[in-house]
Amino acid sequence: MSDKVTLEFNGNKYDFPVVEGTEKEQAIDIKTLRSATGLTTIDPGFKNTGSCESAITFLDGEKGILRYRGYSIEELAEKADFLEVAYLLIFGELPNDEQLAKFHSDIKKESHVDEEMKKILDGFPKSAHPMGVLSSLTNALIAFNPSSVNVSSESDMYHAIVRILAKFPVLVAWTLRKKKGLPLDYGDDSLGYVENIHKMMFKRPSEEYKCNKIVIDALDKLLILHADHEQNCSTSTVRIVGSSHAGLFASLSAGISALWGPLHGGANQAVLEMLEAIEADGGDTKKYMAKAKDKNDPFRLMGFGHRVYKNFDPRAKIIKVAADEVLNDLGIDDPILAIAKGLEKEALEDPYFVDRKLYPNVDFYSGIIYRALGIPTEMFTVMFALGRLPGWIAQWREMRLNGEPIGRPRQVYVGENLRPFVEVNKR
Ligand code: SDX
Repeated sequence: MSDKVTLEFNGNKYDFPVVEGTEKEQAIDIKTLRSATGLTTIDPGFKNTGSCESAITFLDGEKGILRYRGYSIEELAEKADFLEVAYLLIFGELPNDEQLAKFHSDIKKESHVDEEMKKILDGFPKSAHPMGVLSSLTNALIAFNPSSVNVSSESDMYHAIVRILAKFPVLVAWTLRKKKGLPLDYGDDSLGYVENIHKMMFKRPSEEYKCNKIVIDALDKLLILHADHEQNCSTSTVRIVGSSHAGLFASLSAGISALWGPLHGGANQAVLEMLEAIEADGGDTKKYMAKAKDKNDPFRLMGFGHRVYKNFDPRAKIIKVAADEVLNDLGIDDPILAIAKGLEKEALEDPYFVDRKLYPNVDFYSGIIYRALGIPTEMFTVMFALGRLPGWIAQWREMRLNGEPIGRPRQVYVGENLRPFVEVNKR
């Protein structure tokens, strides 16, 4: 295997090293490209450009492989719980009992959200999209936790991390309860991490909270499946905002905004809306398939396609099985699931999708489970953010501990050349 590439330009030859990752991925190290050649690269959407070396998540788009810190997503979804996976992503190893207990205890100590924050929440109309509310509240938390901003020591980072792992679920619950006109509730330290999240979101004021193990296990699995995904749009946003040392909470707030987009995490909401539209249209999937293939129609088959996976998204496979199990266990017969399966079957037999290697992604089936769990459609992307939180934290921590420089891409300028100013009366 060659350990360098040679670039020939203007009669000169330049060698650049080829780096190889632990899974044999290879990349040209172009750190010296501009100083050596005067050239930069251009790669809209960074389809061919690596922004960092990372030890957190590995995915192979051709083979449909996803691993967190070397553990397969299939094993983690089956055998681990979300708090364990959060610890694994952030600190690199699965925690033993003592480490997990301390992690959870440290989080519980930070679960108070300043009452003043409720005034900020009050300012939003009920019609506000929860992702906008959540991004704002996450940023607002900075004002009440100033010590979590300029964190450079590992211990200061740890405190900022347990703080946000404690408070973010409260903000998620408050965002939902505000929309439903329910009193804002606090957690219960006697409950597990995910059970407590569910309790904060769904406890009715006049009723005792009762845990439904099927629901909690399904939620826990969904959060694990969303926990990290290497350098996706929102994670890259967290890393680049964090690279200016703006602080963890500000970086996460930016990541929430990036995830909101329908091409990214917002797709899970868009999938459900698409499936409901198809149902309302008498289940006419062929009409929507035609729209998705029509270049003049901006409509895309939401939940299909992926920048990296050119095979089945392994998460979609797991969620599809879980959707059947959860709906069956809860005794729910949702016609939307049948429409989704029909759409998937048609797309997987359609040359347009097959030729472009467009398969169902993580967002295609997740909304069907969220709906069965009683989560409103507008909250689906918030659930994605809740799952992705530990991944964003892990990636931000890795970037800071690696001392990475501020992110500042170059460009190719294609605007006007130098021209003299023209007085307004001569224009
Ligand atoms: C997530 O990056 C991650 O890891 C993200 C994520 C994570 O965990 O963080 O996995 C989560 O964001 C999943 C993706 C959710 N988004 C959607 O489901 C929205 C629908 N999908 C598309 O918008 C699209 O597939 C993207 C945005 C996901 C990927 O777009 P790319 O990589 O830029 O691919 P492309 O737009 O260049 O598409 C290549 C071709 C084009 O056709 P041609 O120009 O070659 O003729 O495929 C077509 C596209 O028009 N195409 C689709 C399509 N997706 C791609 N056509 C119809 N329906 C689609 N869904």
